[in-house]
Amino acid sequence: MGTTKTKPWLLFVLLLILSCYRACFSIAGNTLSAGQSLSFSKNETILSKGGTFELGFFTPGSSGKIYLGIWHKWFAPKEAVWIANRENPLSDPSSSRLDLSEDGNLLLFEGSSKIPFWSTNLTFPGSNITEAVLRDDGNFVLRNRSTRSSVFWESFDHPTDTWLPGAKHGVDKLISWKNSEDPAPGVFSMGLDPNGSNQYFLEWNSSQIYYSTGVWNGKYFSLVPEMNRSDSIFNFTFVPSKNGSDGYLTYSPRHPYLFALSKYRVDYRGQWRGQVWLQSGPSERSSFWIAPKNLSNVFALCGAFGVLQYPEDNSTPCQCLKGFEPFSMNYTRLNDWRGGCVRKSPLQKCENNTYANGKKDWFLKISNMRLPAYSKAYLAVDASRCKLACMENCSCTAYAYNRSGCMIWEGALFSLQQRGTGQDIYLRLAAHEYLDPRTKGKKWKVWVAVLVPATGLILSLVICFSTKRKLKYIGEKASSNNILSFDFDIELHAKDVELPLFSYESISAATNKFSTLNKLGEGGFEPVYKGKLLRGREIAVKMLSKKSGQGIEEFKNETILIAKLQHRNLVRILGCCIERNEKMLIYEYMLNQSLDLYLFDQTKKNMLDWGTRIHIIEGIAQGILYLHQYSRLRIIHRDLKPSNILLDSEMNPKISDFGMARIVGDNETATNTRRIVGTYGYMSPEYAMDGLYSIKSDVFSFGVLVLEIVSGRKNTGFYNSESLNLLRYAWELWIDDRSLELMEPTIGYPSSTSVLLRFINIGFLCVQERPTDRPTMPDVVSMISNEHAPLPTPKQPTFTIGRNVIDTNSTNDSVEKGSKNSVTISTMEAR
Ligand SMILES: *[C@@H]1O[C@H](CO)[C@@H](O)[C@H](O)[C@H]1NC(C)=O
Ligand SMILES: *[C@@H]1O[C@H](CO)[C@@H](O)[C@H](O)[C@H]1NC(C)=O
Ligand SMILES: *[C@@H]1O[C@H](CO)[C@@H](O)[C@H](O)[C@H]1NC(C)=O
Ligand SMILES: *[C@@H]1O[C@H](CO)[C@@H](O)[C@H](O)[C@H]1NC(C)=O
Ligand SMILES: *[C@@H]1O[C@H](CO)[C@@H](O)[C@H](O)[C@H]1NC(C)=O
Ligand SMILES: *[C@@H]1O[C@H](CO)[C@@H](O)[C@H](O)[C@H]1NC(C)=O
Repeated sequence: MGTTKTKPWLLFVLLLILSCYRACFSIAGNTLSAGQSLSFSKNETILSKGGTFELGFFTPGSSGKIYLGIWHKWFAPKEAVWIANRENPLSDPSSSRLDLSEDGNLLLFEGSSKIPFWSTNLTFPGSNITEAVLRDDGNFVLRNRSTRSSVFWESFDHPTDTWLPGAKHGVDKLISWKNSEDPAPGVFSMGLDPNGSNQYFLEWNSSQIYYSTGVWNGKYFSLVPEMNRSDSIFNFTFVPSKNGSDGYLTYSPRHPYLFALSKYRVDYRGQWRGQVWLQSGPSERSSFWIAPKNLSNVFALCGAFGVLQYPEDNSTPCQCLKGFEPFSMNYTRLNDWRGGCVRKSPLQKCENNTYANGKKDWFLKISNMRLPAYSKAYLAVDASRCKLACMENCSCTAYAYNRSGCMIWEGALFSLQQRGTGQDIYLRLAAHEYLDPRTKGKKWKVWVAVLVPATGLILSLVICFSTKRKLKYIGEKASSNNILSFDFDIELHAKDVELPLFSYESISAATNKFSTLNKLGEGGFEPVYKGKLLRGREIAVKMLSKKSGQGIEEFKNETILIAKLQHRNLVRILGCCIERNEKMLIYEYMLNQSLDLYLFDQTKKNMLDWGTRIHIIEGIAQGILYLHQYSRLRIIHRDLKPSNILLDSEMNPKISDFGMARIVGDNETATNTRRIVGTYGYMSPEYAMDGLYSIKSDVFSFGVLVLEIVSGRKNTGFYNSESLNLLRYAWELWIDDRSLELMEPTIGYPSSTSVLLRFINIGFLCVQERPTDRPTMPDVVSMISNEHAPLPTPKQPTFTIGRNVIDTNSTNDSVEKGSKNSVTISTMEAR
């Protein structure tokens, strides 16, 4: 559940936020005493002692409804971690207030009404006994005013959708909001199994379990082994149930600074998220834990007769089946699909399994669907009998069959999703929804009657040449368009794989049949094409070499792995395509293509001014840092070089091409491979010579990149003066104290040479011969960010990397060496 690792520099940042916070804001009272109240109109709030949490009124979205809640004080936008009156909002801004009454209870009132909207509803033996305190862990407690210890009531015992560190999460369910603006209890919930099985379930409508943590095995929940990792940021304590339902789980961050920065939440789309606020600013929130990972595994996300769209797009994930419309447009605007879809036209009246009049309903075939949940019956009959079985049952709404039998569904259909490789399902629709083929035919005849005399010859020619194609085309259109009221960009979704699969057709269409005009860059065995999906999204399609020898499974696994990596300095992979003997990777399209096209181009290099170059170096460092430290797996890229650094429209660098990336264990310091892959000039000596790679190999490549970016010269193919390569040339200048001569001359003198000299120094530290001498990426990032901290003096690098192992003919391309049977994944790269 918590695998993000704490790193000293991260804590440093957090510490900064904290100390600033304490210093920069005054701290209001954290206590409400008897007779006091908190009013909405005066913006009154209670702040916890350390200033971490705030309690007060808020109005989510544009709803205008007023709730009393607790939120993290530092983070915008406000996100309530607890709400008192989620089901019973106040509405009058001028008179909404929270009272602590003389009788000891907390009460929410509006206007002069005597009936509270919410209250703690306890009985005390006398008056002026209690006080209410907001604690620094986010717990709002009602306690004995004189002892200050005995607690009568606490918000931790009445959770809404959020579980904070220190709170006990047991059978009391966390219940999601209804939608992004309505905190009332929604359909998704999470809690400990009340039957004492010691596992947590995510449920839909308190009835359908769609995710389980697995049972407690003494150390962790069997399906969440991450809990047991020694480097997990949280310390989980589970107390198993003894009497059925008395178990609970609690957690605390191993580092106190993370205490106020983490939470788990069941969001309104049914996903259970662990979040921690990280890095670059107050509002950056990072979900380090999401279950289930894909929206498609959330039960009935799109409600009755709703279809989960592909891709599981953030904006509008759901659509209605043909013949249906959203239950409520107001809800769907908020992405609230609990109401699902309703029929546009009612079905024929049907009683005792016979229809009132002769005109029966009909069935619409929908292809490639994940079949709905809850099939009513499974019959061993053939197709025609399957249809009959459904037709003769008044409550049957759909049927499907395959070789092994026939399934029928009654009532609402849930959890439909269209995929590439699904089954056909036949949906019952009112006759009214049917486009009568006879009327269609008549129209067509009229058209022909008009057109034939005039254009008979042309028409017959057209028919002659294109009938076959056209029929096929219409056939395809009909089978995809009739299903739902929208087009699918992506038609495929692999059954078991959590990875978008694109069809060959859609990619071919997007790239204009792989037209040379769409080709990005030149040459190479692995062409990259620019494409545009139906909905307008621009993509880059990389066709992998057929020679790579990589199996489909390997390819899929690797792609899934990459798809999981998300960082602003890594290029996002959108999916892949495995069809017709081709393997393709689909990436987001980067307007400015790759760094090498700028860095080494006589005219374009002027566009990379010093500021941009520094920005690019910093971005690359962050991207590698993420790969090495913060993604759930430790990843070594192994082929960092300018052509693998893509640039978006704002010149933000994005690391791409994970074809050679390897996952390594946290404790592995170096791994050996018999097959050396990478690019000459960027490979560290120990890797090029002995096949030993580690995170320090990437650090080496990063060092080379830094020197290349500063100097605007390629490390390889460098035949200036006596120096064999850039490293030697740069080193000679460095020891002569002439490093300024290294800097790219065409873009003018930098205003701050010290910063660039610093980068050169860092670059040299990274390319030192011994891996242990090289800094790690967190070190590098902190060297970059702490401009004034002194830097170590680098040792001389080796200059003859791999000349004995690598054929010099391939200096500009990636090299591949070693046995074919090795398990190493490798792909040849050339852009
Ligand atoms: C209350 O706070 C909000 C936002 O911070 C502000 O816009 C509003 O003017 C404040 N109202 C009063 C009465 O202070
Ligand atoms: C409650 O007790 C406190 C502390 O003794 C006192 O200051 C306050 O006036 C009392 N409130 C009432 C309403 O009696
Ligand atoms: C509150 O604490 C005081 C002092 O210990 C005690 O006398 C009193 O009974 C407590 N009140 C309640 C309601 O527990
Ligand atoms: C949700 O559960 C309730 C009670 O268990 C049931 O009445 C209701 O029909 C269910 N909702 C749906 C959409 O199935
Ligand atoms: C985890 O928390 C438990 C209970 O709070 C404590 O006993 C234990 O020492 C903690 N373990 C670590 C490694 O911090
Ligand atoms: C038919 O469909 C059912 C339900 O999806 C599935 O379990 C079964 O394996 C399928 N049989 C064949 C032959 O595809």
